[in-house]
Amino acid sequence: MREILIPVLYLVASFLFIYGIKGLGSPLKAVKANQLSALGMLLAIVATLLVKDIVSFEYILIGLVVGSGIGALLAYTVKMTDMPQMVGLLNGFGGGASAIVAFAELLIRLHNAEANPSQIADFLNLKSGLTIQLSIIIGGVTFTGSLIAFGKLQGIVTGKVVKLPGHNILNILLLAGAVALIVFSSIYPGDLNAYYVSLAVALILGIMLVLPIGGADMPVAISLLNSYSGLAAAATGFVINNEMLIIAGALVGASGVILTNIMCKAMNRSLMNVLLGGWANAAASGGADAQTEKKTVKSVDSEEAAMLFSVASNVVIVPGYGMAVAQAQHTVKELMDNLEKKGVNVRFAIHPVAGRMPGHMNILLAEANIPYDKLLALEDINDDFKNTDISLIIGANDVVNPAARNNPQSTIYGMPILNVDYSKTVVIIKRSMASGYAGIENDLFYNDNSLMYFGDAKDALVKLNNELKNL
Ligand code: TAP
Repeated sequence: MREILIPVLYLVASFLFIYGIKGLGSPLKAVKANQLSALGMLLAIVATLLVKDIVSFEYILIGLVVGSGIGALLAYTVKMTDMPQMVGLLNGFGGGASAIVAFAELLIRLHNAEANPSQIADFLNLKSGLTIQLSIIIGGVTFTGSLIAFGKLQGIVTGKVVKLPGHNILNILLLAGAVALIVFSSIYPGDLNAYYVSLAVALILGIMLVLPIGGADMPVAISLLNSYSGLAAAATGFVINNEMLIIAGALVGASGVILTNIMCKAMNRSLMNVLLGGWANAAASGGADAQTEKKTVKSVDSEEAAMLFSVASNVVIVPGYGMAVAQAQHTVKELMDNLEKKGVNVRFAIHPVAGRMPGHMNILLAEANIPYDKLLALEDINDDFKNTDISLIIGANDVVNPAARNNPQSTIYGMPILNVDYSKTVVIIKRSMASGYAGIENDLFYNDNSLMYFGDAKDALVKLNNELKNL
């Protein structure tokens, strides 16, 4: 019975994972898809519980309850803007867990081989040496790399590019050492010391690979580490002959690579450039983005802004990281309702890397019940800005910086941006003239058709809504 039930449960779980990932592509289906994937994970855990030949059922159950409790607590308490570091931490734990499971399996195999010397090749062979080393190395790199990524985003480790003398050469040597150890253990799978050395090399390599990545590129690094954690899990699946782990790991590995690629494209960066700390280097070395001449900006208060909106026909709202910080999404929805009541056509322009994680703006606006068909992707709205009366920028900065289009010296040159400066009027809500994530000046603020409406996004929108109601 168990022989049939476990593969069937694994099959259903795999189907739910794949179906869930597919569903995440559409905002309408995303919540259901996420729940289905979670159900798949529960089925996979239940099926694995049925195997229970290493640890007793009770221990696994205690682990499940404690782990789920901590996960639920984190999910409810961590702020949405802190999600990237939370994901980073979870990737690290995933990689670490894979390495630990592989190491434990190695110790069991060494013990079995010692007890049954005549069957040594059954326990220690090319496949075991290769897959255990891959698990330990990829898992170890993911663990320390993710901890550094978490530290950088959380402000515990400096977000700046950190490079030791000869950093890249050291990395190449560590990488070559890791490959040599994999080859060694494939030939001599019973040498325990080689695995200890691999673990040390992997832990150091993880730190060395992430240290040179600047804070601005950390979400890309986290997505890449997410992919590594999947690969580590898949390798561990081969070590313990668990098909479910292989499938789930491969799905995470592949989707992580695809996401990394999408993010790099949206920022017009190559992965190599991100890994070598290119952007941050350029920002540190080039004065091209530095503001030399003093320019003036025009600012408006809530009353003046409301007057402008009351005579507009077409408004495009561009949300950014600041909207997330201020948690202003519900107030944005109120603004949309107020404007629509006055007959204004309101749409939203969503840049693929607005905020701090993929889909950040979509999630927040969906939470506020803003209809999906009002959210337009960069390529669908960009030609429409010239017909727009007011573009309202709420806490966005880099994603609307015309330097990406106009200034070949700029560190963000080439990144696709929302062409808000082509609209008749641009109203920008932010607290100060401070720069955004890329740390560079934004000429948009100084344009003749730009008006700064200074303030916290939520407060500013509450005031604007109140004024609009009075008009
Ligand atoms: P940013 O360029 O980071 O600008 C956000 C602006 O929000 C800041 O200039 C800040 O100005 C303002 N702000 C902060 N708190 C605010 C508040 N409470 N109320 C009002 N304004 C507030 O944001 P963006 O335009 O969304 O661009 C995202 C950046 O992150 C890009 O550089 C992108 O490449 C990078 N990035 C994103 C991702 C993903 S996947 N989303 C991944 C990697 C990198 P004040 O301090 O003056 O208020």
